[in-house]
Amino acid sequence: MRRGAIFQLTVLALLIGGATTFVALYPHWLPPTASEQADRIDFVFWYVTVICIVIYAIVIAVLLFSAWKFRAAPDDDADGPPVHGHTGLEIAWTAIPFVLVTSMAIISAIVLARNDRTGSDPLRVDVTAQQFAWTFKYPQQHGLTTNILRLPINRPARFSLKALDVIHSFWVPEFGQKQDAVPGITTNVTVTPNKLGTFPIICTELCGLGHAVMRSTVIVMSQEDFDKWAKAGGKAAGGGGGAAAGKTVFVNNGCGGCHTLKAAGSTGKVGPDLDKLPAGAEEAGQPLEQFIRDSIVDPNKYIAKGFPPNVMPETFKSLPKAQLDALVAYLVASSKGAK
Ligand code: CUA
Repeated sequence: MRRGAIFQLTVLALLIGGATTFVALYPHWLPPTASEQADRIDFVFWYVTVICIVIYAIVIAVLLFSAWKFRAAPDDDADGPPVHGHTGLEIAWTAIPFVLVTSMAIISAIVLARNDRTGSDPLRVDVTAQQFAWTFKYPQQHGLTTNILRLPINRPARFSLKALDVIHSFWVPEFGQKQDAVPGITTNVTVTPNKLGTFPIICTELCGLGHAVMRSTVIVMSQEDFDKWAKAGGKAAGGGGGAAAGKTVFVNNGCGGCHTLKAAGSTGKVGPDLDKLPAGAEEAGQPLEQFIRDSIVDPNKYIAKGFPPNVMPETFKSLPKAQLDALVAYLVASSKGAK
């Protein structure tokens, strides 16, 4: 009889554990990892999850089994015999959680400490966050500045984050690490990418109207490709001329996050409507092409009515010339098309 009960309890616990494991595995709750730090965080996550599944399965199995086997008959008003005091059981249910929770704390502390290690020669990246754009500067690469982050694989990258206006937060889901950029202080985070590919950079702190579009891209490349790109001053990728290349520059730099442009299908309202560039040029008394170029390189030169100054990031002045030319050509072409 007793052996039968233990057998039934075990089967019940295995069934519940199986179902819970399935829910933990499918759908994929976390993005695939692409950094050493994310791999360590994943380990902690699964360590805790497995413990939770085992405890949950045992507790629910006992609960269901008791409700099923020891259910009082409808006409049974008795309270049942009093039960209290079982020293062995009390020691067990104190000691086991103590050991489990302490082990989680120790493992988490080790992972946190290791995830903050930079090694002896990290790649330094200065990140500037502002409404609503990211700028990345590489002090070891002669201050090369870009709006798309490029990182060499398997080398720790140490980010120093600054915010110009409000609090933003730097996040690449696949990297696992997240760090706030706070006005007035510099914060740091370390990432060692271990997968080649392109991943999204997301602002994960509500920072204003353009928060949802405050996104960029990180490209993880081989050390060789990275060196080549850095040596060419950031020109290697996304160069080329013409309006088609200009659209790529427009999209890659997140212009659509703040500006409306029918040709690019963007509907941003933070900055002036780029389908109305000819009217702006007329007002400024400039040829269209010159007006567009000036407005990208020196955003405060002409301030469109109804828009405050100092909102457009000045970082676009450091766009490589080929990209700037392509972007201007693209905007001129789309203005002519929109007329
Ligand atoms: Cu920046 Cu949200």
